[in-house]
Amino acid sequence: LSKENQSILSAYEWLTKLYHHLLRYTKDGREGYNYFKNRGLDDETIEVFQLGFAPNAKDFTRDFLDKKGFHQQLLVKAGLLSQQDDNSVTDRFKGRVIFPIRNHLGKTIGFGGRAIIDQDPKYLNSSESELFQKGKILYNFDLAKKHIRKKSEVILFEGYMDVIAAYQADVKNVIATLGTSLTENQAKLLKRYVDTVVLCYDADNAGVEATYKASMILRKVGCHVKVANLRDDMDPDTFIKEHGAEAFNNEVIKASNTFMSFYMRYLKKDYNLSLEGDRINYIENILKQLAMIESPIEREYYLKELSNEYDISLETLTDEISTHREKMG
Ligand code: GTP
Ligand code: MN
Ligand code: MN
Ligand code: MN
Ligand code: MN
Repeated sequence: LSKENQSILSAYEWLTKLYHHLLRYTKDGREGYNYFKNRGLDDETIEVFQLGFAPNAKDFTRDFLDKKGFHQQLLVKAGLLSQQDDNSVTDRFKGRVIFPIRNHLGKTIGFGGRAIIDQDPKYLNSSESELFQKGKILYNFDLAKKHIRKKSEVILFEGYMDVIAAYQADVKNVIATLGTSLTENQAKLLKRYVDTVVLCYDADNAGVEATYKASMILRKVGCHVKVANLRDDMDPDTFIKEHGAEAFNNEVIKASNTFMSFYMRYLKKDYNLSLEGDRINYIENILKQLAMIESPIEREYYLKELSNEYDISLETLTDEISTHREKMG
């Protein structure tokens, strides 16, 4: 690690502790504490995730780190301070609750800051740097790792709050991307620890599209994909709050769909299945994905489904799959 990066890590460590302390024990952090309380988090959870609050003053953080001897330009580079047009430097996260983002060693390498009033952007992250690369980090991976191994399954969410709510509800093999789409780099990292990834994105249009994209990347690196059964435009955090941990486990996670069943539904939006040509293209497209499935039982299960639904003989479909599989080698 370069001297500069060591210094940045040290600044993040100071600030993680400071923001957390302010939230827990001071009047300046009260708003932040109340915010998390209102969202249903208890003290233990606030502690585990070292949640914090950055005071609503434009040079609080700058002055604090100044006194500790950190160079201002370094802090700008680290994404902790913002440089204004007139070159003055101010606190980047002022007035926001803070989610420290840890690397696999448990060291804070960035912050997610959420507005506690109606304000744009809702979330502000540290800017990208050598240490903080959103495409490489998975939120909560360090704490989730042992639970992921134990269950040989990982649940992937969209948001920090989804991870924290699930963790508090005792579902601990949980991680999230940092507001960006899953990268191949992250998928490969996951593949080293588990075979199965359960995608549990928000039950809205953006979530469905993101589920499709993430599942393609995960399948490419050889992961087995399941899609959680979240409904009614909810996100996991709101579901847990409304229906509780047990319902989340039983009705959302355990009731996950296979990738194929998700995909067969998802793909329908691109075709008008009352047209013969579209129907054929749809089936061909499904068969291509089916061909990638290693389990003969699972393949046959969906082939039968296709055969029944579209009145094509099982034999024809099986031949077609064999051709695809031969091409794959
Ligand atoms: P809450 O409203 O706090 O429950 O957040 P959420 O996680 O449900 O937010 P949402 O589903 O809208 O977004 C999912 C993730 O995308 C968040 O956890 C953030 O990481 C990221 N995100 C959301 N809004 C913004 C934004 O305005 N800017 C940036 N950079 N990221 C965002
Ligand atoms: Mn504490
Ligand atoms: Mn969303
Ligand atoms: Mn959400
Ligand atoms: Mn949410």
